[in-house]
Amino acid sequence: MAAIGQDISLVKQILQTGGNVAIPTETVYGLAGNALDAEAVLNIFKIKERPAFDPLIVHTNTVEKIHELVLNIPDKAYQLAEAFWPGPLTILLDKKSIIPDLATSGLDRVAIRIPNHPLTLALLAELPFPLAAPSANPFGYISPTTALHVNDQLGNKIPYILDGGPCTIGIESTIVGFEEGVPVIYRLGGMSSEQIQSIIGPVNVKSHSTSNPSAPGMLKSHYAPKKPIVIGNIDRLISRFKEENFAILSFNKTFREIPEGKQINLSVSGSLEEAARNLFSALRILDKMQVDLILTELLPDTGLGRAINDRLNRAAVK
Ligand code: TXA
Ligand code: MG
Repeated sequence: MAAIGQDISLVKQILQTGGNVAIPTETVYGLAGNALDAEAVLNIFKIKERPAFDPLIVHTNTVEKIHELVLNIPDKAYQLAEAFWPGPLTILLDKKSIIPDLATSGLDRVAIRIPNHPLTLALLAELPFPLAAPSANPFGYISPTTALHVNDQLGNKIPYILDGGPCTIGIESTIVGFEEGVPVIYRLGGMSSEQIQSIIGPVNVKSHSTSNPSAPGMLKSHYAPKKPIVIGNIDRLISRFKEENFAILSFNKTFREIPEGKQINLSVSGSLEEAARNLFSALRILDKMQVDLILTELLPDTGLGRAINDRLNRAAVK
């Protein structure tokens, strides 16, 4: 198993010698390596068993450093950066050749993010290179929001997990790019589309396309527990599946007729932020429960509710 702790100088040493470690961010934990070292990047793909066509996000801590990695930062990208970085937003920018092709799966654009976590910002400030970091889970499974989640699945493949506590946002970053100057959201995430539009105006959302995805976060079956998930009106699902051994994941309701140990309520107060923070832990708990089936419902389709619904829909596809 990996060591878990807060030793930034040890983490720095591992990364500087080409190794890989898990790092906390406000969205989910990342599996990090030197983004400018093709070998360290290759090992990320191996550890995650991630297909080579699925590019990585590159993390750094200042816009000055980003200028060294990309050809230019369009005005609207710059406005988003000023408004929301550090934060749960990733921006696709035209890459310079210093970024290995492997990191972008051969694409011309590189995904860049300044994450908002004090430990990781402190680490990035000390490193002479940016960090490539996909979510620290095996490809296709639920993203980790605690150090223990990472340890559960990747603990035997990495030496160290930098423990930054539970992630405060709990859902992956929103990915934005530009097509002939028009902003496009490729993955709904921790920064709501309303917030993004408040800065740069109308944005296209393309995250539901499934054929030949240009962002494989767009893959339909993804973020998925091993158990089948059925989405609908929970009361009706309960009667439809009454012969089955199921558990319930609800937004803010409690079901009296169902044992407490077989239901998880994402936010008693009905907060979308709290629901996002709890979502992936809840899915992991449900996946380990002695049940055959998970019954759930969609949330209101606004703010973070849209990103949560996107993850539930993908988790439900088998
Ligand atoms: O919140 C997050 O974004 C977390 C933390 C660790 O920063 N990272 C994360 O990475 O979720 P990952 O690799 O699990 O998801 C990144 C998504 C993938 O779906 C990938 O296809 C897309 O970003 N992506 C990366 N580079 C891209 C590019 N150049 N063009 C299009 N999509 C890209
Ligand atoms: Mg991921």
